[in-house]
Amino acid sequence: MTMETRTVPGTAQASTDTPTIAAVGVIGAGQMGSGIAHVCALAGLEVTLLDVNPQALERALGAIARNMDRQVAKGAISAADKEAALARISTGTDYAIFSGADLVIEAATEKEEIKTAIFRALCPHLKPDCLIATNTSSISITRLAASTDRPGKFIGMHFMNPVPVMKLVEVIRGIATEEPTFQAIQALAAKLGKTTAVAEDFPAFIVNRILVPMINEAAYALYEGVGDIRSIDTAMRLGANHPMGPLELADFIGLDTCLAIMQVLHEGLADSKYRPCPLLVKYVEAGWLGRKTGRGFYDYSGETPRPTR
Ligand code: CAA
Repeated sequence: MTMETRTVPGTAQASTDTPTIAAVGVIGAGQMGSGIAHVCALAGLEVTLLDVNPQALERALGAIARNMDRQVAKGAISAADKEAALARISTGTDYAIFSGADLVIEAATEKEEIKTAIFRALCPHLKPDCLIATNTSSISITRLAASTDRPGKFIGMHFMNPVPVMKLVEVIRGIATEEPTFQAIQALAAKLGKTTAVAEDFPAFIVNRILVPMINEAAYALYEGVGDIRSIDTAMRLGANHPMGPLELADFIGLDTCLAIMQVLHEGLADSKYRPCPLLVKYVEAGWLGRKTGRGFYDYSGETPRPTR
């Protein structure tokens, strides 16, 4: 029997050359998408930022400008760098804006059905050799890749929040990811000034496999009355030298995102040690999602955050 190489009509071809990335599309203008657009534009890339909500795009441009101002204020970049970077960002609500992109990074809500619907809508607008990266913090790269027409050109590129400050990018290959795709993403991360850690495609990869169960455990410590919010956060800030306490960090990440990651771990690894804390579930059900909604474990309506329990 002879082996036969088959190609599926209309799908992108495998290549051995490392693609160069000069134009990046970003899907989702939330805190992660804005941060990714911010660092890409500062690195000299042309950026197109898409969101279904035009107001989210307006807010994102405002946040990017303010965060660049912090960098100008401390001398990390010049005012001219900031203006040039902002001029490299264009926005839109239609996938047609990605027709010239070399790479599109998806940073939408952490829900698998939302991401796969986005990929199905996105692919017909892309150049055949355009790469796709997902900033998913926990969902299978292999499964997400299968919802595109180019699994070989699909990869996980997981940024940390706040993107302009955090040095790490986790890089995760799906089963079909081709070597040139991996090399192109490694080169891009270096261009953005980030260090990469390569993780295998298991639920929540490395950072969130370790970090989010710690946050969930902090929610259990609160739920069981081991300590109150302030005690738990002070204990971990001063006792373990963490820059933020775990409940403060949960509010920063978003309680909905923390819960979604625990659910992926619980379902994906089928181990009861990943059971989401009922108190975390209740906060999310109440719409108390952390800083972004003004209330989570802390209330952010006043001058300084106030514990809610
Ligand atoms: N853009 C640009 N610069 C920013 C920024 C932003 N969005 N946010 C903060 N900065 C800069 C500040 O200008 C400041 O710079 P200098 O030190 O050079 O002056 C520096 O970052 C520190 O900021 P602040 O002084 O305002 O505040 P801080 O000292 O309390 O630090 C923090 C803030 C960097 C967020 C720090 O508290 C921290 O590291 N927290 C932990 C963050 C963390 O763990 N992130 C990972 C979350 S997990 C994740 O993202 C993965 C996931 O999928 C859930």
